[in-house]
Amino acid sequence: MPRSEPPTRKRPGRSRGGSGARRAGRPQAAPAAPQREFALPETVTPALPAADAFDALDMPAVLVKTLAEQGVTEPFPIQAATLPNALAGRDILGRGRTGSGKTLAFGLALLARLAGRRAEPKAPLALVLVPTRELAQQVTTALTPYAAAVGLRLATVVGGLSIGRQADALRRGAEVLVATPGRLHDLIQRGDCLLGRVSVTVLDEADQMADMGFLPQVTALLDQVAPDGQRLLFSATLDRNIDRLVRGYLSDPVVHSVDPSAGAVTTMEHHVLHVMDETDKKAVAVRIAARDGRVIMFVDTKRGADRFAKRLLSNGVRAAALHGGRTQPQRTRTLDQFKNGQVTALVATNVAARGIHVDDLDLVVNVDPPTDHKDYLHRGGRTARAGATGSVVTLVLPEQKKEMAQLMSDAGIRPRTTRISSGDPELARLTGAREPSGVAVTVEAPPAERPAPRQRAKAKSPARAKPATGTRPEGRQPRTDAAAGNGAGAGRSGGGRSGARRRPRRPARPAN
Ligand SMILES: Nc1ncnc2c1ncn2[C@@H]1O[C@H](COP(=O)(O)OP(=O)(O)OP(=O)(O)O)[C@@H](O)[C@H]1O
Ligand SMILES: [Mg+2]
Repeated sequence: MPRSEPPTRKRPGRSRGGSGARRAGRPQAAPAAPQREFALPETVTPALPAADAFDALDMPAVLVKTLAEQGVTEPFPIQAATLPNALAGRDILGRGRTGSGKTLAFGLALLARLAGRRAEPKAPLALVLVPTRELAQQVTTALTPYAAAVGLRLATVVGGLSIGRQADALRRGAEVLVATPGRLHDLIQRGDCLLGRVSVTVLDEADQMADMGFLPQVTALLDQVAPDGQRLLFSATLDRNIDRLVRGYLSDPVVHSVDPSAGAVTTMEHHVLHVMDETDKKAVAVRIAARDGRVIMFVDTKRGADRFAKRLLSNGVRAAALHGGRTQPQRTRTLDQFKNGQVTALVATNVAARGIHVDDLDLVVNVDPPTDHKDYLHRGGRTARAGATGSVVTLVLPEQKKEMAQLMSDAGIRPRTTRISSGDPELARLTGAREPSGVAVTVEAPPAERPAPRQRAKAKSPARAKPATGTRPEGRQPRTDAAAGNGAGAGRSGGGRSGARRRPRRPARPAN
């Protein structure tokens, strides 16, 4: 059950700019905590107690009915703990492990609070900011039945798709806007969206939204929403990055953190597999990919993802690459094909590390080890979601052993470590690895989804796609759209008709 919270008191007056919330960011003293753990701010006004059932919450009955129709019968701990407070209008800083139900925790609150209201054209009433386009689409899909039940309209604005259509949706009126920051910024610049009426703002994956690459745009957007509005910040990992957002934009937040450490999931097994060298690692990875069942395989770079996916296809594994260098239609299709089983091995960069939910996925493989413990937790968190079990396997070269041990210790995880080679029966036991057929396969792209001319041109231009050679880790570049996996350049054209025109290169900017 969720932790019990002290009884409530009246919400104090809101103050912005640092006085409302205490300064976070002191080093965590607890010895068991991972190194980069930080001290969450303290709540001044006591929080409402957790709810033990959806129908005990101050929500429209139709939402409770829709939950039941969706098979969601009991609140998960983070929902039970935060919903009473979010429904009462409190600001929330919520940390809940991957797959713990944070989307409904903020989604139900904002929909319940907006029920019965109507947005003017271009002026949404709630804003959900997320770091990637895939996540924006997923959040929209997850909230759609509930929004429909209370008669609220959702709009999604993300880069790489027609900005004109998104402007049209805003003009028609949408109470809830789900957005990546760059595209929302563009729509505001064009006069197609105004944030002054936004009374509930959510930052999902809040710590990533507070990363250097995102922060300026995120704060610029937060400065435009109604100053006395509600703010909800959620992530599986919260660290001192979010200090500035907490101090500047949350007022006496209710802080909820189910997990003492960075959010390890108890139903997840962690395996570190020591491989001899690059050749052996490739052989091991190919055999794992050939398993009978789906797997997400994370790699560092876009080029690495393309190369590995190609290798798998030529070996008979139905694989596809997902990364920020592909067009949005390609990205969407690839994820759909993975979800419906047409693709069994998804080779992805960190673009797929956060938030993405795929039902019944029981294995995540780090072909290239993640760079830090947060990446590890988010990547691994694509499995063992919502109480299901799953394994995370990380392939480690001899020279990576030390770094990996540090990363695991930072994550508060004790993995099972095994020395392995490609033909090892232990590899098969742990991952279902097997010999691929060796007969090349293809995964067909519907012809209609060929990229638009400008997008193809962009993909070929190293200057626009990414200044480096493609060997730099995607998650470690300056936060251009590729780093966030959102294709900044493609996003600017948005698939619009002016696409073929070359524009001067702009400074790096975050997701759109
Ligand atoms: N109360 C509930 N009962 C049953 N299933 C639930 C409940 N709440 C959420 N779920 C399901 O759990 C899954 C994971 O939820 P969600 O994507 O919101 O996790 P998350 O906490 O946002 O994870 P991440 O940190 O990876 O973004 C989804 O399939 C969702 O439908
Ligand atoms: Mg989520």
